Amino acid sequence: MNTIKINNIVVLTGAGISAESGLETFRKRNGETFWPVGDDVFPLEDVATAEAFARDPELVQTFYDQRRAKLGTVAPNATHRALARLDAEWPGDLLIVTQNVDDLHERAGAKRLLHMHGELKSAWCLGCDARSRWEGNLIDGPACPACGAEGQLRPDIVWFGEMPYEMERIEEALRKADLFVSIGTSGAVYPAAGFVQTARYMGARTLEMNLEPSQGSVFFHESRIGRAGDLVPVWVDEMLKP
Ligand code: APR
Repeated sequence: MNTIKINNIVVLTGAGISAESGLETFRKRNGETFWPVGDDVFPLEDVATAEAFARDPELVQTFYDQRRAKLGTVAPNATHRALARLDAEWPGDLLIVTQNVDDLHERAGAKRLLHMHGELKSAWCLGCDARSRWEGNLIDGPACPACGAEGQLRPDIVWFGEMPYEMERIEEALRKADLFVSIGTSGAVYPAAGFVQTARYMGARTLEMNLEPSQGSVFFHESRIGRAGDLVPVWVDEMLKP
């Protein structure tokens, strides 16, 4: 991997990297979605769309409140730590684009990081459009820290049918990338699933590390199959070795 000159790296991460910390992934092997709220499981249309929020805000807020609360019970794992080390020590450009809405990358110390699908620990006011750091629940309709309006905060999560954040910055990084690395993502959800094709078309080397071949596996020059916590520290060592 290090035999070609690599300066610019884009790393895409997904739910698989947080699985070893105890956070559930979204899809099972057959692609079936898995969205638990309390003791029930719901199809994604019921919890992760703006239409669902309009129809049943309590269900949607409960789903995200539970996931936000769970963050306090989990910790970054070997993958988050290895990527934070890469961030600290890689002399060239690096952008870690995560689809994950947890805060485990930043708790491990990653800085060159972008949350393309939003963050559990952010609330978005539908009244004044401000985004505020948020630790607690939203179910009770708390006041917006910016404008004071009550009951206007929604999870700052990019739902299905909404535009992911910072796409221009991501596209630019993909165009400049010498190496694109995808870790712990099924490759089922666009536009992230298409990043490998953009990067490869623009000349990047492409590598995936996943428990199973992702849906876009054919587009990668190299697939390393296994647990991210085993594979990623080894890859980071390879990248940083003098
Ligand atoms: N190491 C590496 N890969 C793993 C591990 C592990 N320990 N555990 C699971 N995986 C893999 C699974 O095999 C699967 O291919 O991680 C992938 C997780 O896929 P998804 O659950 O589909 O998660 P992700 O790709 O991040 O989902 C993308 O879809 O639901 C939306 O917005 C949500 O950001 C999410 C997006």
